[in-house]
Amino acid sequence: MTSANPGISKAVIPAAGLGTRFLPATKATPKEMLPVVDKPAIQYVVEEAVAAGLSDVLMVTGRNKRPLEDHFDRNYELEEALTRKGDAERLAKVQESSDLAAMHYVRQGDPRGLGHAVLCAAPHVGDEPFAVLLGDDLIDPRDALLSRMVQVQARSGGSVVALMEVAPEQIHLYGSAAVESTDSDDVVRITGLVEKPEAADAPSNYAIIGRYILDPHVFEILRKTEPGRGGEIQLTDALQQLAEDEKVGGPVHGVVFRGRRYDTGDRGDYLRAIVRLACEREDLGPDFRTWLRSYVTEEM
Ligand code: UTP
Repeated sequence: MTSANPGISKAVIPAAGLGTRFLPATKATPKEMLPVVDKPAIQYVVEEAVAAGLSDVLMVTGRNKRPLEDHFDRNYELEEALTRKGDAERLAKVQESSDLAAMHYVRQGDPRGLGHAVLCAAPHVGDEPFAVLLGDDLIDPRDALLSRMVQVQARSGGSVVALMEVAPEQIHLYGSAAVESTDSDDVVRITGLVEKPEAADAPSNYAIIGRYILDPHVFEILRKTEPGRGGEIQLTDALQQLAEDEKVGGPVHGVVFRGRRYDTGDRGDYLRAIVRLACEREDLGPDFRTWLRSYVTEEM
């Protein structure tokens, strides 16, 4: 599942949102640190970037950034204690996250929106295409999405966003894309984008989900983008401009994702992610599935 594109090596992970949907858990902990089975949600996201060949990861952090940094750093005290006990298995788990990628951090002073968070990455990214992975969007590790997007970007240039078809009554929760088909079944050309439209105004049921490959021209646009919906600097507004004028930054394509995705910032989806991933784990799955089956038949 590694990328064949030497052009994209940097991943930006915005993780500076307030996580208000998950209060009080997120009062002192970033929502990206909430565990999904036994790993924080953010580790799945970093692993996904690495699996797609991106080994340089910049995390955009906000208040409470310490747990994020600590998780991807060494913990010598814990490592020594586990070494003394001869617990190689747990030692490997502790070391896994600190050996994953070259991690970098930048602080987003005020959470002024996703577009603003991406703009904070400009000095680190420089003048090359880069990936953006939202820290609270979990793509099932068995369903490759980012590597397909890297492939499409290598072929078409410009920017690539991930799309997922949603029910019309859900589209107001997402950015919605106006699309034209291409000769690939899972790729569309994007001609316009609207952030969180009412169902009646949505150009399609294709919702933008939290994976992007962006042309660096997006920074220029974001610098001039005024706060939009919710008073926030919206990445969708900048993408709309990229889609409108191909001369600046090339075309915008969408990869239609038909796999499993969870919004771990949403409590219902978070619970679904845990149940599904736990059921499928070799170590926990058999016992957990037995319990779940009897719980569902006896208690519900
Ligand atoms: P969300 O809107 O889902 O995040 O942003 P939020 O504001 O933390 O969530 P709620 O609605 O209050 O629960 C999508 C992604 O963009 C990041 C978030 O961390 C999340 O990964 N983000 C958002 C930033 O990094 N900075 C911002 O200013 C806003």
